[in-house]
Amino acid sequence: MAELNFDKVLASLRLRLDEVDSENEFDEIAKEYLGKESLLSEERKKLSKLSKDDKKTYGEKLNTVNKSISDNIQKAKKLYVDNKYSSLEESEKDDVSINWVSTQGSHRHVLSQVMDEVVDIFSSIGYEVAYGPEVETSWHNFDALNTPDWHPARYESDTLYTDKNLEHLLRTQTSTVQIRYMENNEPPVYIVAPGRVFRSDQLDATHSPVFHQLEGLAIDKDLKFTDLKGTLEYFVKKFFGDEIETKFIPHFFPFTEPSAEVLVKWNNGEWLEILGCGMVDPNVLKHVGYPKEYQGFAWGVGIERLAMLKYQIDHIKNFYDNDIRFLEQF
Ligand code: DAH
Repeated sequence: MAELNFDKVLASLRLRLDEVDSENEFDEIAKEYLGKESLLSEERKKLSKLSKDDKKTYGEKLNTVNKSISDNIQKAKKLYVDNKYSSLEESEKDDVSINWVSTQGSHRHVLSQVMDEVVDIFSSIGYEVAYGPEVETSWHNFDALNTPDWHPARYESDTLYTDKNLEHLLRTQTSTVQIRYMENNEPPVYIVAPGRVFRSDQLDATHSPVFHQLEGLAIDKDLKFTDLKGTLEYFVKKFFGDEIETKFIPHFFPFTEPSAEVLVKWNNGEWLEILGCGMVDPNVLKHVGYPKEYQGFAWGVGIERLAMLKYQIDHIKNFYDNDIRFLEQF
C-alpha cells in the first residue's frame, strides 16, 4: 500500500498557516486538512481494506497525524489572535473609555483658568498659596483688619451673618486670610489667597452676591510703597500684556495706610478699577503680634473683574449660568 507522505502534508500545512490574514481562515484550513474531503479522511477510508496488523499501525499513525495537524492549527490561531490584540493595544494606547472627554473639548471653567493664571504669575515671583474658611468670625473679617464699629460694611444690609449675635458670617473679602496666616506663621510673609467671597448684593452687570477674589500679602523688614507698585505693575503687565497702562489713585481701606486703587486703561480710553491695595496698617500687624520692625503691603483683586476685562464679557451672570455656548469659548 502506498502511504501518504505525512511530512509533506505537515509542511504544506505550515506554509498555509504562515500566510493566514484573517481569523476565519483557520476554520477553513481545519476543514481542508481534517474534514470529510481531506486527504486524511481519504486515507481512513482505506483502513478497512488492510490486514488487522496494518490497520492498527496505520490507524495509529493517522491518529497521530490528525492530532499533529489539529495542534498546529490551534497554536497558529492562538499566536495570530494574541498578535492581533497586542498590536491593536499598541496602536490604541489611549484609554478609549475616556476618549469622549477630549473630543467634547472639556476644560476648566473660565474663572478657574483666570484664577490659575493669576496664582501662577505671583508664584513665579515667590508667593505661596494660602487658604482660609468661607464661614468666618467677625473678628477675622472686620476687627483684626482694623475696621471700626461704625463701618458700613458691617451692616447686615451688606454682610451675610450666620448667627443672631453677628459673631459669624460668610466672609466678605479674602483679606481674612491675611490674619489667619499671620496668626500661625512668623514673618517674612509672601502669600496669595484665592477664594470665594459673599456679600448681600443684588445681581447686576458687575456685582454678584458670590464672587472670587485673590488676596496678596507681603511682610518683610524693608518693604516700601515702591515695592507694592512694582509688584502690582508687574502683575498687570503679565496678565493684560506689556501695552497696558496703569494708574494708582488714592483710596481708603481700614486695613491699609496709605491705600490705593489700581486702574487700567481700556481700549475705549476709559480707566477701570481692578484692585485695592496699600501698605498694611500697623494696627493689623499689632493684632497678630508681629514685631515692630516688620511692615509690608497687601492687595485684593476681583477675579470676575479681571476675566470680564480680558475677555470683554459684558455681564457677570455669564460666569454662573453654565451655558455651554458661553463656556466653550474659553
Ligand atoms: N478687601 C478689599 C475688598 O474686598 C480689597 C482690598 C483692598 C484688599 C486693599 C487688600 C487691600 O488687601 O490692601 O474690597
